[in-house]
Amino acid sequence: MSHKPVLLKEIINSLHIKKNGIYIDATYGCGGHTKEILKNLGPLGKVYAIDYDSQSIDKYKINDQRITYINKQFSNLKKICLKYNVTQKIDGIIFDLGISSYQLYNPMRGFSFMSHGPLDMRINTKQGITAYDLLKKIKLKELSFILKKYGEEKFHNKIAKKIKQYIMFNQLNNTYDLSKLVCSIVKKYNKHPATRTFQAIRIYLNNELKELHKALNNTLDILKIGGILSVISFHSLEDRIVKTFMKKFSSINICNLKIPLNDIELAYFFKNKCQLKIINRIFPTKLEINNNYQARSAILRIAQKI
Ligand SMILES: C[S@@+](CC[C@H](N)C(=O)[O-])C[C@H]1O[C@@H](n2cnc3c(N)ncnc32)[C@H](O)[C@@H]1O
Repeated sequence: MSHKPVLLKEIINSLHIKKNGIYIDATYGCGGHTKEILKNLGPLGKVYAIDYDSQSIDKYKINDQRITYINKQFSNLKKICLKYNVTQKIDGIIFDLGISSYQLYNPMRGFSFMSHGPLDMRINTKQGITAYDLLKKIKLKELSFILKKYGEEKFHNKIAKKIKQYIMFNQLNNTYDLSKLVCSIVKKYNKHPATRTFQAIRIYLNNELKELHKALNNTLDILKIGGILSVISFHSLEDRIVKTFMKKFSSINICNLKIPLNDIELAYFFKNKCQLKIINRIFPTKLEINNNYQARSAILRIAQKI
C-alpha cells in the first residue's frame, strides 16, 4: 500500500516556503512532504531529509541535488546542523511522527496486528533489540506499566501476564500470535483491540517520546528567527509533548509573581524567555479522513521562532 502524506497542503502552507530557503524534513518516510517542499523551492533551496530507517530512505530516495539524506535519529538535529553548518539558518522544520504505511504494511517489520510477521517493531532494523526479545526478557510488572503508560490500555495487567506466560512456552512467536492473544482479553473498543498494545510496545522499544522531547528542544537552537516549526502527531501522548513544548516557550506566566522579581526569578525568565509564537492547530478535514484513514487522528501544530 502506498503512503499518502497526511495534511499535505496544510503543512506546506504553514512553511511559507522561500525560494532559496533551507528546510528540514525530520521524518522523511516515503518523501511525500519533501516532494511538495521541493516543488516550491528554487534551484538554490535545500532540504535536509532525516529518517532513522535506512530502508525507507533507500526505497524512496529522490534524485535531486537539493536534498541531503541523513540516516540518523531526529534527536540529533543540533549535531546535524552543526555538521552541515546550517545552525540558526533553518527556515522551517517539519515532523510527521510515527511510522509510514510502507513500514506499517510490510509484515516483515512487525508493526501490524493485521498481518503475520516477526515481532520486530524497530524503526531502524540494524539497531537495538526486537519486540520479541524485549517481551522475552522484560519483567511482568514493567511490561504491565509500559502497556498502561504508552498504550493507555485498561487491561494492561491481564495482557502482560498472558504475554509472559505464552512467550515462556513458545506460544508467542509473531505479530499474529500477539494480536490473537490481546483479542482473547480485550473485546470492546472502537478500534482494533490490539491497537493499544502494539502502540505501547512500539513507542517504548523505539524510545519515541524521549526522541520527540529531545528533538523539539533542539529546534529552538537551529531555527532562524521567523523560522517555522510544524509537527503532525497521531496520538495524545505525542500531542501533549508538542503542545506543552510550544506553550512553555511561547509564554511567560507572571500572574503569580510579585514585582519586582528577585534574582532567581529573573534568571529563570532570561533562561526561558519567549522563543516561539504559536501560530495554529489544524485537524484533517472529513474529506481527507475519508480518503486516507491514517489521517483520522492527526493534529498539526505550528509555531514560529521569534
Ligand atoms: C509518518 S512517517 C513520515 C511520512 C512522510 N512525511 C511522507 O509523507 O512520506 C514517519 C517517519 O519517521 C521516521 N522516524 C520515526 N522516528 C524517528 C526518529 N526518532 N528519527 C528519525 N526518523 C524517525 C520513521 O522511520 C518514518 O519513516
